[in-house]
This record gives sequence, C-alpha cells and structure tokens, in this order.
Amino acid sequence: MKKIIIANWKMNPTNAKEAKRLFESVRRVARKAKKVELMVAAPFVFLPVLKSGVVKLAAQDVFLKDTGPWTGEISASMLKALKISHVIVGHSERRELGDSDELINKKIKSALSKGLKVVLCVGEKVREPEAVPEMVRREIKEGLKGITKKFSSRVLIAYEPVWAISTTKGARPDNPQNLFEMGIFIKRVLLDIWGRNAAMRMPILYGGSVNSKNAESFLKVECISGALVGGASLKPDEFWKIIEIAKRI
Ligand code: PGA
Repeated sequence: MKKIIIANWKMNPTNAKEAKRLFESVRRVARKAKKVELMVAAPFVFLPVLKSGVVKLAAQDVFLKDTGPWTGEISASMLKALKISHVIVGHSERRELGDSDELINKKIKSALSKGLKVVLCVGEKVREPEAVPEMVRREIKEGLKGITKKFSSRVLIAYEPVWAISTTKGARPDNPQNLFEMGIFIKRVLLDIWGRNAAMRMPILYGGSVNSKNAESFLKVECISGALVGGASLKPDEFWKIIEIAKRI
C-alpha cells in the first residue's frame, strides 16, 4: 500500500506567490515519487490557485451546512466544486478554538455527503504512560457517530498527540513503540464501530513533530500508513527528505 504523506501548512504562507512556490517544490518531487500518495492541506484562499494533480489538495476544515447565512464559513460543496479531494476535520488546533466532538461529527457528515474524503484528527492532550487514552476512543467514536460503514473507505484517521505537535510548548515526538500500541488501539476502536475489514483497511497517519530524522521510524510502524506533517512541510528540503523516506518504505 502506498504511504500517504499530507503537508499541513496550517496558516502559512502569507501570499499566493509563496504558496505556489512551495506547492511547486512538492510537485517536482512528487513526479518522481509515484509510490507515495502526496497531499497538501493549504489555507482556503490558496486552494483555487494551486492545481491538484500528482499532488492532491486538501482543505484544513469545512463547515457543517452547505449554503446559507453563515458568514465566514466554507462548505463541502464549495470545496467539491474546486476539485478538492480531502478535508482535515478535528485538528487539535480547531478543537482548541471550540470545535466539539458533536460539531466535528456534523462536519464529517457534511463532507462525506458531498463526496469528500475526511482526515479525522484525534489525539490526547497529555501523555499518560501506561494508560490508554480514553480521549482518543471518545474522539473517534463521537466523530464517526451515526455514519454508516459504507463511508469507511473515505475516512482516514490522523493520530496526533497534542503533546507531540511541534507548536506545543515542550513538544517532543512520540516513539515508535507507543505509536504501534496506539495504532493497534485505534484499529480496535474502529473494529468496534465498523468491523474488522474496515478497521484493517482504514489508514492511520501519524502527526506530531515528524521530520526527516524521525520519519523512517514512524513510517515503519506496521499499522501506520503515513504522516501528517506540519512544520517540516514548510521547509522544501526537509519535506523532500520525508517523501524520499516514504518512497523507500
Ligand atoms: P507538526 O504539526 O508536524 O508541526 O508537529 C502536525 C500537525 O499539527 O498537523
């Protein structure tokens, strides 16, 4: 199975010229990395100026309603009209701004109903050694509540422990052993929801300070299908190295 690498640009860069330049640097590498599924999650304003092709485009959020009096929001239909394939939902930075499990569930339903694929982000805030993070179970169960199994092929899970995300104070990356255990745990939760086949098939990505030095150890973890890369995806050389590693694994 192809490894999936998603660049999460967050609120970067500051203008379209810079966005095109950054995107072009990914596209150049992508042409020689057919064995990797590459995607860039860019801010909404840049999505129309970037052309998806070998590198797919993802949005970083979506609204739960489709049209109407919702000032400042962007709907799944609008993204679909731009030929966007994926949308990230439930990123910890959005949860911090108030996105609840209930809201995230509605956003996922809206995105799936319009034919988008969803990258559902989950992850505990604090590392508790020896403890299974119940928060992750809850975020998956509530996020996917009421969604039928037929949509399972359109959902990816990104496990991003908040304590490991590079912008968290004192952040440090997870370790492969913990990630393996979390991967198994997440598969188990998915099995409870949609059964064995769906759980086995659904990709789990890791995100949290992934860089060219640690990418290999995370991408080699058996139940991990790829990475959601924040900070390092803004540095073309660094991101290129991560793609090269994904190509080999
Ligand atoms: P990071 O961000 O790679 O900079 O830790 C990952 C994310 O928040 O998606």
